[in-house]
Amino acid sequence: MRDYHDFLKEVLISEAALRKRVAELGEEISRDYEHQELLLICILRGGVMFLTDLMRHIRVPHAVEFMAVSSYGVGRRETSGQARITLDLNTNIRDHHVLLVEDIIDSGRTLASVLDLLSTRKPKSLEVCTLLDKSERREVEVPIKYCGFKIPDKFVFGYGLDLDEYYRNLPFIGVVDLDKYNKEMGTV
Ligand code: IMP
Ligand code: MG
Repeated sequence: MRDYHDFLKEVLISEAALRKRVAELGEEISRDYEHQELLLICILRGGVMFLTDLMRHIRVPHAVEFMAVSSYGVGRRETSGQARITLDLNTNIRDHHVLLVEDIIDSGRTLASVLDLLSTRKPKSLEVCTLLDKSERREVEVPIKYCGFKIPDKFVFGYGLDLDEYYRNLPFIGVVDLDKYNKEMGTV
């Protein structure tokens, strides 16, 4: 595994900016769901770091659940059509206020499939909180209630988002220089 400095083009969102924005989102969610109980559903694995930071700022009682969806494999940078559920929930979400927590919305296909599936289970409400929105790339319209940052059409990594499953631990969001990365890894 190469040092990320070899292919980091720029830091797009700093650790301090992430911390500030995540706290604001938690505040907004706490206000909107006041006197209610909430079920946060995190889509593995990219959303985990965001979820755990966000939870610390949510003051309403809430439970946490996880689900996993396969969108694309190592070496691919785009979602391939329909997403497949690879890990389903353990909780019945019927009559719960559900907030889906996502790392990034790109084409919107992954989220659209998940929303379709979850809405058939009749939650009391179903909303989306995404850290990042790459709106230029949208192919399917998806309703986003809470968004951390709108970002340009660039491949990003860090703060939960991976580059072929690594670098999720970085505390900032960086832009990958894909030419350099592919050369380093011998992918092309
Ligand atoms: P969508 O179905 O095209 O919206 O893809 C959403 C999923 O693709 C996200 O949950 C991420 O896992 C992944 N993804 C999209 N863009 C990026 C990126 O720039 N860096 C890392 N993962 C990404
Ligand atoms: Mg994801």
